[in-house]
Amino acid sequence: MDVNKIRRDFPALNDKETVYFDSACQSLRPQVVLDAMNEYYQHFPACSGRSMHHFAAKVTQKVEDARISLIKFLNAAKKEEIVFTRNTTEGINLVANTLFFKPGDVILITDKEHNSNLIPWQKLCRQKGTILKIVPTHPDGTFDLDAYTKLLDPRVRLVSFGHTSNLDGVTIPAAEIIKLAHQNGSLVMLDAAQSAPHRQLNVRNLDVDFFAFSGHKLMGPSGTGVLYAKYKLLEEMEPFMVGGDTVASSTYESADFLPPPEKFEAGLQDYAGIIGLGAAVEYLQKIGFNAIQKHELELNQAITVGIRAIPGLKFIGPADPALRGGITTFYIDGIDSHRIALMLDQMRGIMCRSGQHCVHSWFHSRGITGSVRASAYIYNTLEEAQLLVDHLIKIRKVL
Ligand SMILES: Cc1ncc(COP(=O)(O)O)c(C=O)c1O
Repeated sequence: MDVNKIRRDFPALNDKETVYFDSACQSLRPQVVLDAMNEYYQHFPACSGRSMHHFAAKVTQKVEDARISLIKFLNAAKKEEIVFTRNTTEGINLVANTLFFKPGDVILITDKEHNSNLIPWQKLCRQKGTILKIVPTHPDGTFDLDAYTKLLDPRVRLVSFGHTSNLDGVTIPAAEIIKLAHQNGSLVMLDAAQSAPHRQLNVRNLDVDFFAFSGHKLMGPSGTGVLYAKYKLLEEMEPFMVGGDTVASSTYESADFLPPPEKFEAGLQDYAGIIGLGAAVEYLQKIGFNAIQKHELELNQAITVGIRAIPGLKFIGPADPALRGGITTFYIDGIDSHRIALMLDQMRGIMCRSGQHCVHSWFHSRGITGSVRASAYIYNTLEEAQLLVDHLIKIRKVL
C-alpha cells in the first residue's frame, strides 16, 4: 500500500502541519466522496422516490446504487436489509425502540460500551421493565468468554456488544459470541462503529442479527450511517420514526406501512450523504482491509514502543498493540489528558482525542479521570507516528 499516494486523495492533508490521529471519532474524506456528494448537489439535487421527473429518477437510482455498494461491503443477503440512518447511535436506538421486549427480558452489554450502546438500554429498562446486565471484561480489556457464558440464560433477549472498542481498540470474538447467543435463543446486535472502518465484514457468515455503524468513521460524510438487520426481523419490527416515505397510503385513521427498509427511513433523506457513503465503502474496498490492518498495526507498534517508557504512562487495554487495531489510548498519572492533547495540537498540529471518549461508565468505575487516544488510519505515516512519540516525550519533560 502506497501511503503517500493515498494521502493525495485527502484534501484535508494538504496542509503539512496537519497530523490527524482522531479517526476513531471521524475519519478524513477522500476526494471521491466529496465529488460524489457534489455531483448530487450540482446535477440532480431533488428527492428520491417521490416525484416522476428525471432529477428524481437519477437520485432514486443513485441511492439504490449506494445500497448495493453497502450490501457488497457487508455481504448482506439483499438490499432491503440496509437501513440508512444518521449514525450508529440512531441504529441502536432504532432497535431499542422497535424490537419487541417484555418486562423481565434481559439485555447483555459489556462493561466498556460507548454511551450509544448503554443509554438506549437504560432508557428501555426504565420504560419497559427490561433488565440490563453487564459482562465484565478481563482486566486488560479483552473479552471474557466465561463471564459471558455464565450470564447467558433463557431470559436474555438481546446481546448488544461493541464489536471493536473505541476505548482500547480490542475486537471481541464475535462469531463465537453470536453462536452461543443463538444456541441460547438470544438475538445479537453488534455496535460496529469501530470495526466497520477497519476490518473485512461478512454479516452473513457472522450470522449477526443487527449491525450498526456510522459513515463518518469510514471515510463517508458526517451524519450518515447504516443499520443492517436480517430481513425477517425488520419485517416484524414496528417502525420507529413514522411519517412521509414510510407509508404506501394513509387515511385519517390509519396507514399502510411500506416494507423494509422504507418503513424505517422516515422523511426526506440525506441523499448526498447516502451517495457519498456508497462512494466511501467502495474506496475502502479498493484499498483492501488486509492492507489497512497491516498498516494500522505498524503504526500502533511504532507508537506503543515509542511511548511505553515515558514515566507514569499507562496504556488502556492490552499491552500488545496487535490486539488494539489502530487505537493507542493512554494516560499519564497526575497529568490532565486535555492538557496533553492541547499541547500536541499547539506544538505541531497533532490531533488526538482526550477525555473519557463517551465511555464515562468505564472511567468512573475505575476512578480514572481521562486519557489520550491516538487513532490511526490508512493515511497516517510512520513519520507521523514518530512525531507523536517525540512530542509526547517532550511534553512529559515539561509537565
Ligand atoms: C464504539 C462506538 N459506538 C458508538 C459510537 C457512536 O457513533 P455515532 O456518534 O456516529 O453515532 C461511537 C462513536 O465514537 C463508537 O466509537
